Amino acid sequence: MSSRAGSRIKQISTHLNSNPFLELNTPFSTERSARLEDDKGNRIPAKKVQEVKTKVAEVRNLAPKPPKKMSNQAPHPALLIPGPIEFDDAVLSSMSHYRYPILLHPFASFHIHGHLGTDFEVLGNLRKLFLTSDPASQPFVISGSGTLGWDQVASNLVEPGDEVLVLHTGYFADSFADCFETYGVKATQLKAPIGDRPQLDEVEKALKEKEYKMLTVTHVDTSTGVLSEIQALSELVQRVSPDTLVVVDGVCSVGSEEIRFDDWKLDAVVTASQKGIGCPAGLSIMMVSGRAIERFKARKTRPTSYFGSWKNWLPIMQNYEAKKASYFATPSPQLIHALDTALKQILSRPIEDYWAAHKTASQKVKKAVADLGLRQLASKPENQATGMTAIYLPEGITPPDVLPSLLKKGVIFAGGLHKEIATKYIRFGHMGVSVTDPDRPDITKAIESLKEGLTEAGYKA
Ligand SMILES: Cc1ncc(COP(=O)(O)O)c(C=O)c1O
Repeated sequence: MSSRAGSRIKQISTHLNSNPFLELNTPFSTERSARLEDDKGNRIPAKKVQEVKTKVAEVRNLAPKPPKKMSNQAPHPALLIPGPIEFDDAVLSSMSHYRYPILLHPFASFHIHGHLGTDFEVLGNLRKLFLTSDPASQPFVISGSGTLGWDQVASNLVEPGDEVLVLHTGYFADSFADCFETYGVKATQLKAPIGDRPQLDEVEKALKEKEYKMLTVTHVDTSTGVLSEIQALSELVQRVSPDTLVVVDGVCSVGSEEIRFDDWKLDAVVTASQKGIGCPAGLSIMMVSGRAIERFKARKTRPTSYFGSWKNWLPIMQNYEAKKASYFATPSPQLIHALDTALKQILSRPIEDYWAAHKTASQKVKKAVADLGLRQLASKPENQATGMTAIYLPEGITPPDVLPSLLKKGVIFAGGLHKEIATKYIRFGHMGVSVTDPDRPDITKAIESLKEGLTEAGYKA
C-alpha cells in the first residue's frame, strides 16, 4: 500500500477511534482544541501553519483579476421582490466549491491538509455588519431560514408562561406571535392600522400595564413595507421597563436599513441570508447581546427546542469564532462560503455607504411611484422602508393584471401579502446588488416596466 493511501486510511479510521487525531468539540465538550498534523501524523506547529497561509494569500494576490462584467449568469428576469433577491456573480460562484470550511465540521479533517489557506471570518464580519464591538455579543449562523430565528428567540430567551409584547406592523408579527404561542409563551400584540406602526405613547402605556419579559418589533414588515423606529423604541423600553429584552425581526432590514446593535442597546436581531445581505436563502443569522445570553443561561427550564437550542449552538459558535473544529449538526458550507463573500463585499467600504446606496435607490422608486399618482401602504415618509416599497394599485386593477406583463418585460415583483388587502397592492424589493451595482439596470428597468404595465392594464397617470 502507498504511504499516501495508508495515511488516508489512518485519517478515516481516526473517526472511528475513541481518541481521534482531530479533537472534536461538541456542545458537551469545550476543549476548543484543533491540532493540525501532516501526512505522517506529525503535529504541524502553529508558526508553520501561518507561513503556509501567508504563502497562499501571496499566490492568490498574484493571480490575474478577471475583467469586470455585469453578470455571468444566464439571462433571466430581474428578481425584484422583497427577498430573495438577485445575486452577485462572486457570491454565487463561491458556492460552487467542493470543500468544507476547515473548521466547521468534524469530517473537515479529511480536507485539512489541502486547505490551510481557507479564511473563515463570517462571525467576526457579522459583528462588523451589526456594529457591535462588545465581546459579550454573540453571533449565530445556523442552517435554516429567517423563521428559525423566531424559534430560537421563543425557545431560548423566554420560558413557557412568560409574557411578551409583539408590536404589529403586518403579517410577520402575527407569525412571530404564533411562534411564541407554539412554545407556550403568551404573546400580546399591539396593532396599528394597515400602513402605520404602533405609536411610542401606546407602547409606553402597554409596557406599564403588564410586566413583559420581551418586546419584539419587526424592523421592516415585508407585507406592508412599514419601517419601525428601533432606536426610539429601545430608548423607551430602557426608560419604562428596563428588564424587558428588545428583540428585532430584521429579516427584511439588515443590510438595507441602519442598525446599530451596541449604540441602540438591542438584545437580539434576527435575520436571514437572502435579503439585504445578498446571499442565497438557507441561513438563519442572529446577533444576541451579552445581557440576553445571561438571560438564557439563567433559565429555570430547558430550552424548548432541540435543533434551535443555544445549549447546543452557543459552544459551537464560540468554537467557530475561535477557529476550533466543532460539530453539533451539519452546517451548510457552500452557503457559508457565499455569506463570507457577501459580507466581505458589503464591508469592503464603510457600512454607511451600503445603506446610502439603498437610500438613493429607494428615493428614486418612491418618487416614481408618486409621479405615477400611486400611493404606498406606508403613507408617512418616516414609516417607509428603504429596501422595499409596497404600492397600492389603481382602483380596478389587481396584481394578476400587472405582474405577468412585468414578467414579460423582464422584472419580477411580488403580489400583496397582507390578508386584508392582498388583492389591492404589489411589492417592489430594491435591495442588494440591484441597487449597489451601478452596471445593473434593474431599478430603472423596473420603474419603466411598471409604467408600461399599468398603461397596458388601462391606467392613465
Ligand atoms: C420580516 C420577516 N420576518 C421573518 C420572515 C421569515 O423568514 P424566512 O422566510 O426566511 O423564514 C420574513 C420572510 O420574508 C420576513 O420578511
